[in-house]
Amino acid sequence: MSDTLATIQGRTSANNFDPTHHMSEAQIQELVELTLNTPTSFNMQNWRLIAVSSAQQKANLRKLAFNQAKVSEAAVTFIVVGDSMGYQQLPTLIKPMLDAGALDQAAYDGWIGMCNGMYNGNAQLQRDEAIRSGSLAAMTLMYAAQAKGYVSGAMIGFDGAAVAKEFGLNEHEVPVMLIAVGNAAPGNWPRKVRRSLAQAVKTV
Ligand SMILES: Cc1cc2nc3c(=O)[nH]c(=O)nc-3n(C[C@H](O)[C@H](O)[C@H](O)COP(=O)(O)O)c2cc1C
Repeated sequence: MSDTLATIQGRTSANNFDPTHHMSEAQIQELVELTLNTPTSFNMQNWRLIAVSSAQQKANLRKLAFNQAKVSEAAVTFIVVGDSMGYQQLPTLIKPMLDAGALDQAAYDGWIGMCNGMYNGNAQLQRDEAIRSGSLAAMTLMYAAQAKGYVSGAMIGFDGAAVAKEFGLNEHEVPVMLIAVGNAAPGNWPRKVRRSLAQAVKTV
């Protein structure tokens, strides 16, 4: 089995984390670097992570996450943030490709034009894209963590408005989910049941 398949099949949500385990800033940055490979619509990359790793900030976040212990017991809990206006950064983001000659001016202008045409004035799609990109980044982060030997736990159990206020999100940003990452403590559940293949797919 390839490492990738083992990572996909081995990941489960951890509830119990070793509270004595700490991750260095370099170890946290390595996970974020891997997460940067996440694909996004038009490559707009409209997500960011807040790595909550100090005891004080983890305690603050835990209070806003229905006191879920893993928020503070994991070495780091990431707040995955999606940006509903992130598409407006596209010209700056892809300019290095223009400068390097990987894109000509017409392709650059066309790429931006198509993106603006799709998202300008469409608040529903802008928010959808914040959640979609944040969710894809979250998945990359969980697989990166798994591949590096950590365990992870995604959470939607938190007060979104309170987290946005406490951690300084702007009005266009959405707290998509929390991802606790660290070393496992004993007692985590084994892999949970999944639907049958027939329930999950219809080939047409
Ligand atoms: C978006 C999302 C939100 C979740 N929120 C929570 C949560 O707040 N608390 C929790 O204990 N587990 C949470 N989970 C974990 C799920 O219960 C878990 O992924 C699911 O039962 C499947 O188990 P597995 O991840 O071990 O395969 C969440 C998972 C996802 C993907």
